[in-house]
Amino acid sequence: MNKTVLITGASSGIGKSAVQYFQGKGWNVAATMRKPENEKELNQLQNVKLFRLDVMDDASIEKAITDARAAFGGIDVIINNAGYGAVGAFEAASKEQIQRQFDTNVFGVMNVTRAILPYFREKKSGTIINVTSMGGRLTFPLYSLYHGTKWAVEGFSEALQYELNQFNIAIKIIEPGAIKTDFYDRSQDLFSKEGLTQYDDYQNLTMPNIQKAGADAPGPEVVAKKMYEAATDGSKRLRYAVGSNAPLLLFLRRILPHSWFTGIVKSVVEKK
Ligand SMILES: NC(=O)c1ccc[n+]([C@@H]2O[C@H](COP(=O)([O-])OP(=O)(O)OC[C@H]3O[C@@H](n4cnc5c(N)ncnc54)[C@H](OP(=O)(O)O)[C@@H]3O)[C@@H](O)[C@H]2O)c1
Repeated sequence: MNKTVLITGASSGIGKSAVQYFQGKGWNVAATMRKPENEKELNQLQNVKLFRLDVMDDASIEKAITDARAAFGGIDVIINNAGYGAVGAFEAASKEQIQRQFDTNVFGVMNVTRAILPYFREKKSGTIINVTSMGGRLTFPLYSLYHGTKWAVEGFSEALQYELNQFNIAIKIIEPGAIKTDFYDRSQDLFSKEGLTQYDDYQNLTMPNIQKAGADAPGPEVVAKKMYEAATDGSKRLRYAVGSNAPLLLFLRRILPHSWFTGIVKSVVEKK
């Protein structure tokens, strides 16, 4: 029987590409998104079914999991991919923007994980793949909130594997570098606070360099391929860095003194 993967945030970018990649490999795919009624491509694919799932809405998560299990006879892999970047000076962020960033990127991952665990534990198998970022182990200017969320998911995922090992449930972390998707435009939440102009110069200096990294980046297929590797390699490996120098930067981050590494980041992101 075909294996089945459930993917969150499948309406665009990495999630959508993952749906296409797993489907191409003969998997059943539960492609979940906030507005499945808008999706016109994925529903044309064989063995792909669309389900409504908002990671901040527990009822939608429960229903999508139940419906996907009924449609495909089970779920083998969950990919927690949904997420977005909140960007700008921390002081300019509203309380609601801070809350929504963590609700989506952190509590969303936990909501889906909580919902699938009883089923995976009962059947003594399953793989949970959490999409963090190379920014889950290093940082760039103006992304303090986003990094806060991705570092949180790194710690959450790493710790979770100890208790889940006994149930044959694997945890995997995908750490993409910059990838060309809607992340840098449609999905981005850029802060601004009326009257707060003191960060403008710094923002005007750094944002074009960050946006350029997104524009020059590889497409989401490289990440989809890495997700497939993580889902199928049968290893105990936890982390999979992928794309746009992510493996190199994470290596440098690990071996270099902190001040050297932040010096490298500054030389790239604060370049005039
Ligand atoms: N692109 C990069 O450079 C990069 C690098 C490292 C990590 N990542 C991570 O990769 C993941 C996918 O991002 P992407 O690059 O593919 O960007 P994207 O094209 O903007 O896709 C983001 C997806 O998340 C969905 N989403 C947002 N809030 C949601 C919610 N409450 N419930 C369900 N879905 C929600 C969006 O749905 P809607 O269409 O409804 O908005 C969209 O499908 C994110 O976790 C991101 O942090 C991206």
